[in-house]
Amino acid sequence: MDTPASGSLQSLSGHGARPLTGRRAPPAKIMELSQVKAIVTGAGGGLGGCFARELAAAGASVAAGDVQPAGLRDLAAAARTLPGKILPAPLDITDEESASAFVDTAAEQMGGLNVLINAAGIARDGLLISPRPGGVNKLPLAQWRKVVDVNLTGQFLMVREFAARVVTAGTLHAVVVNVSSIARAGNPGQANYAAAKAGLDACTRTWALELARYGIRVGGVAPGVTATGFLAGFSQEALARLEAATPIGRLAQPQDVWQAVRFILECDFFTGRVVEVDGGAAMGVL
Ligand SMILES: NC(=O)c1ccc[n+]([C@@H]2O[C@H](COP(=O)([O-])OP(=O)(O)OC[C@H]3O[C@@H](n4cnc5c(N)ncnc54)[C@H](O)[C@@H]3O)[C@@H](O)[C@H]2O)c1
Repeated sequence: MDTPASGSLQSLSGHGARPLTGRRAPPAKIMELSQVKAIVTGAGGGLGGCFARELAAAGASVAAGDVQPAGLRDLAAAARTLPGKILPAPLDITDEESASAFVDTAAEQMGGLNVLINAAGIARDGLLISPRPGGVNKLPLAQWRKVVDVNLTGQFLMVREFAARVVTAGTLHAVVVNVSSIARAGNPGQANYAAAKAGLDACTRTWALELARYGIRVGGVAPGVTATGFLAGFSQEALARLEAATPIGRLAQPQDVWQAVRFILECDFFTGRVVEVDGGAAMGVL
């Protein structure tokens, strides 16, 4: 018997040891960024724009989608000098036809697809109820639905269309990265957003389990407060309070979150997990 007994310390150590099951481990699949053919949603925004630029800087092709065309124009202009290419096009991830047509066009224009980064998202904050003279204001149903539509249902549509296309094309190796938030743990005034992001994390785990057999890994990043247009409505005082409550002592920059996205793309043993990039912040103290 030349294999250590299973469960022993020795069996858990040792690089180059035979796989414990006796089966030959399949070789790790390397996702070279220069070979990436990616869809990035919310690419007109701060995080999506950063991910698209970083990918193009590494030589990747990127189909950049957003419901707001202005950000996409800026992105395309900034990308002209990069080795890869950025193909901007309108996309509403909450619209089934828009999502499906975008994925089809992206695959045709780039000659395939192997990465989806779901960075589109919105917040429409509001307390469940807020007392006013003579009664209470209630969080409107439309405000609840809008946030769940974009941050959860839209991500579902994109992952479904991407996976269907990739599997039909016989692509053997693909990666999905969903952008969650540390607000998934719950945050006053953000029930709609927290519920959608917690739901998205449940989908990340579920889709990782469902899609592993097709060679598709699914991971997530949960940023803390990040300096993008998302914070447009925040006062200077609120931002200073958030910084002070973050152990690292500053807000995240999109580049900080990109480092986690890059890790997920490149690490062949990563799936079904969500990486928090929050400077050590805990929602309870924000
Ligand atoms: N900035 C933060 O503090 C922070 C923290 C945690 C998580 N996030 C998440 O990161 C992601 C990116 O946020 P950001 O900070 O770049 O914000 P952002 O507002 O700069 O970018 C979001 C982009 O999504 C686009 N979008 C909205 N609805 C869309 C739709 N239906 N279809 C396609 N695109 C749509 C917007 O037009 C915008 O360009 C979001 O999912 C957000 O929830 C942000």
